[in-house]
Amino acid sequence: MAPSPFIIVAIDGGAASGKSSSSRTLSERFNFLHVDTGSFYRAITAELLRLGVKPDDLPAVRRAVGALRLGTHLRGRSAEMEIGGRVAGDEIRSREVNDQVSHFAAIPELRAALLSYQRGLADVGRAHGFRGLVMEGRDIGSVIFPDADFRFFLHADPVERERRRAGQGQHDQIRERDRLDSSRKASPLTCPTGATSIDTTDVSLDQVVEQMSAMITARLGQA
Ligand code: CDP
Repeated sequence: MAPSPFIIVAIDGGAASGKSSSSRTLSERFNFLHVDTGSFYRAITAELLRLGVKPDDLPAVRRAVGALRLGTHLRGRSAEMEIGGRVAGDEIRSREVNDQVSHFAAIPELRAALLSYQRGLADVGRAHGFRGLVMEGRDIGSVIFPDADFRFFLHADPVERERRRAGQGQHDQIRERDRLDSSRKASPLTCPTGATSIDTTDVSLDQVVEQMSAMITARLGQA
């Protein structure tokens, strides 16, 4: 019998659009490795800020990014990024990181440094016996895994998204981050052609997950 295919699910969308909750639930339901690439951009941002590097000082960004020692730590079903052997903590959700992350994420060299790291996580998932990988971010279905088995793009009314983020107790200018993320030249936030676009404004997380799950189950049934 042929081995089961390794399924890749890409979930993209703006801030607080429902990516994290839906991708975590899918990872539990289908035994997929979960990867939150936003946490990678946040961890690198926190590290560069700790080193005193500013996003407009490109030579310093290049030097610092080139010297980062990246590794992976599995916590349950989630892949966490290690920098210099350490997984970042709550500082990645700080106000300073919220304010700076989109500026660093717009730098092509920084994105390039993460490209093969992110693709390599499919091998990590296979090696650890996961059935597939669910990766959330801004450019997963467009750049990292354009051939993913499923590509979802989540969006929601900004007022509703701000309400969700405030409910998490965070100060976060999500409209400004979305503006920067959508207008940058390198891998902008966009719904890739052919992706399934889902408006999460008025639907529950359960409904979003059911829609995604039904599509994945139908495919697994054919495998
Ligand atoms: O949690 P939230 O949706 O607000 O953001 P996040 O997923 O933690 O991502 C933080 C920031 O990282 C985004 O605003 C983007 O600037 C950047 N990012 C990116 O450029 N590409 C990705 N694949 C993921 C995140």
